[in-house]
Amino acid sequence: MTQTSIGVIGGSGLYQIDGLENPQWRSVDTPWGAPSDQILTGSLAGIDMAFLPRHGRGHVHCPASIPYRANIDALKRLGVTDVISVSACGSFRHDMAPGEFVIVDQFIDRTVGREASFFGAGCVGHVSLASPTCARLGDACATAARAASIKVHRGGTYLAMEGPQFSTLAESRIYRDVWGADVIGMTNMPEARLAREAELCYASVAMITDYDSWHPDHGEVDVTQIIAILTGNADKARDMLGRLPTLLKANRPICAQGCDRALEHAILTAPPA
Ligand code: ADE
Repeated sequence: MTQTSIGVIGGSGLYQIDGLENPQWRSVDTPWGAPSDQILTGSLAGIDMAFLPRHGRGHVHCPASIPYRANIDALKRLGVTDVISVSACGSFRHDMAPGEFVIVDQFIDRTVGREASFFGAGCVGHVSLASPTCARLGDACATAARAASIKVHRGGTYLAMEGPQFSTLAESRIYRDVWGADVIGMTNMPEARLAREAELCYASVAMITDYDSWHPDHGEVDVTQIIAILTGNADKARDMLGRLPTLLKANRPICAQGCDRALEHAILTAPPA
């Protein structure tokens, strides 16, 4: 048994969380450089919390320049066991509407050129990503969202695009009609990969802001439209997050899926003699 410690990575519109006891913005240094911002630590319902604004306060990092490795490593160094990733997304489905949340359970990664692994020359490792999110944590997020009266979809495939421009209409149609993606965003990859390599349980809560560009009754997506929905979504997310600590046990069981032991059979490089 280990003590639960919840790390929240907040996306566009979510730059803090409410109700923390002993709140403190802390600087954390890592071998991968500085994370996106200082990290807000404290406790909620007796559980340690760490909040990191993914784009930095003031929204200064674009999706491609977010220091993903430093972010995950900094949370790990603070003792975080469970990472809740919160982010804005577009929807590819009529029945997944702006203002609703999706607890993502699969990814299609179309990002390019981002630092996507802690491994490299000198130490070679291959973790499994067949089930890239933690079911226990995803269930807790769904329960917390429902308790906050948020319409939430349990399960969905997130297409991670490079950006920063939105998709063309042809891309949007391929992702939806051919590849079967449910939502689209720019930031969950390589974050989810790195969380697995760091042996952290990871759940992704995608907050829908738009229908991307495929929907015949909705115009092409733009930032004005996203911002109009974003504030309401962020309020809902804070409500959901405030309910999460009481749903997660303070003494955490070992992960049934093995997220917390992902490296056990993953490293091929022989240890130094
Ligand atoms: N974030 C919010 N909406 C998006 C969209 N349509 N495409 C990519 N990222 C998004």
